[in-house]
Amino acid sequence: MLKRFSISLKKNLLANFDGFIRRCRYSNRSEAVRDLIRKALVQHEWEADKNVIGVITLVYDHHYHQLQEMITQLQHDFHKQITSTTHVHMDHDNCLEVIIVRGKAVEVRELSERLIAIKGVKNGNLAMSSTGKNLH
Ligand code: NI
Repeated sequence: MLKRFSISLKKNLLANFDGFIRRCRYSNRSEAVRDLIRKALVQHEWEADKNVIGVITLVYDHHYHQLQEMITQLQHDFHKQITSTTHVHMDHDNCLEVIIVRGKAVEVRELSERLIAIKGVKNGNLAMSSTGKNLH
C-alpha cells in the first residue's frame, strides 16, 4: 500500500535533484526518492552490523612478490565469509579477482580493507548489499 507525503525543498536543490533524476533515468521523483531512502536505510543496516552480502573486486599484477600467496592466505583466514572467488587473467600481467562475501558488515569490510591494502593491489572495491527486508 502506497502512502503519500510531501517534501519542501529550496528551488535550487529541487532543480539539482531533477537533473540527478534525468541523469540516472528515474521515471519520476517518487521513484528516485524511494531509491534514495532504501539506500540510506541499507547503509544504516550496515552500520548497525547486520548481515550483508557483497562483492569485492581486486586488480593486481600477479608477478608482484608474494602477492598471490598473501591474497590466498587472507581468503583462507576469512573462509567463513567467502562464498566464491572468480579469477580472471586480464592480460599477461594483470589479474582480476571477484570475491563474493557474506556475513556481518564489520567482517566483510575488514576483509575488503585488508585485501585492498596489500602492496601491489592496484585497484579494489567493495559493494555491499542486503536483502533489504522491510525496505519495500
Ligand atoms: Ni591471473
